[in-house]
Amino acid sequence: MDKTEQDQLKKEAATKAAKVVKSNSVLGVGTGSTVAFFIDALGERKEKEDFNLKHIVTTSNRSKKQLEGLGFKVDELADIDQADLTVDGADRVDDNLDGIKGGGGALTLEKNVAINSKKIIWIVDESKLVHHLSGFPLPVEVLPVSAEQNFKRFEEEGLKPQWRLDENGERYVTHYGNYIIDLAADPIPVPHGLADYLDHTVGVVEHGLFLDMCDEVIIAHSDGTIEDKKRK
Ligand code: 5RP
Repeated sequence: MDKTEQDQLKKEAATKAAKVVKSNSVLGVGTGSTVAFFIDALGERKEKEDFNLKHIVTTSNRSKKQLEGLGFKVDELADIDQADLTVDGADRVDDNLDGIKGGGGALTLEKNVAINSKKIIWIVDESKLVHHLSGFPLPVEVLPVSAEQNFKRFEEEGLKPQWRLDENGERYVTHYGNYIIDLAADPIPVPHGLADYLDHTVGVVEHGLFLDMCDEVIIAHSDGTIEDKKRK
């Protein structure tokens, strides 16, 4: 699939998700190129119908800027209790609707917005689908103070760590001043086991395994169909 076709699929999934957002609700908005199409579609609804949102929280400055450019007011997570719905993209989604996220480096806020949402929908093109989580390095956000030790331990565990670098070849620094180590161990045989290990590793701020969280995935397929897969 080339980029133009993939973008078209991302747009279709995003447009479908924008239709299910209830006016006057509290919405969480994720990060990424698919979400950018979703934000555009929200803007179109705002222009064409009586549609607005009570509160919006986002998971990145990129999404915030785009929403504000379309006339939406964006709040901080601390200003709301819970979102009614969060719509986000994903890097990989498996048969259980578990996912890898954080390709854009926004995983910590993404997970925080997600767990403070009544419902989570991911929007993806079919290239993101896998039977078992694989095919994408797992991002792990780590505190700089213990990052070297974390890296060595991950190596010893056979998790194939790689520092994420920015466009200048320097270590990528997250919104919170931390580094990202991408784990290239692939596939991830026991996602819950790895999540548990990372959750208990000192110095790990957050990781990109989003397990048992997503309620629904809207998938745009290259045969023109849009699938709505719900958690059983
Ligand atoms: C950012 C994310 C994104 O949702 C994920 O990387 C998907 O991005 P895209 O829609 O551009 O493919 O998790 O941290």
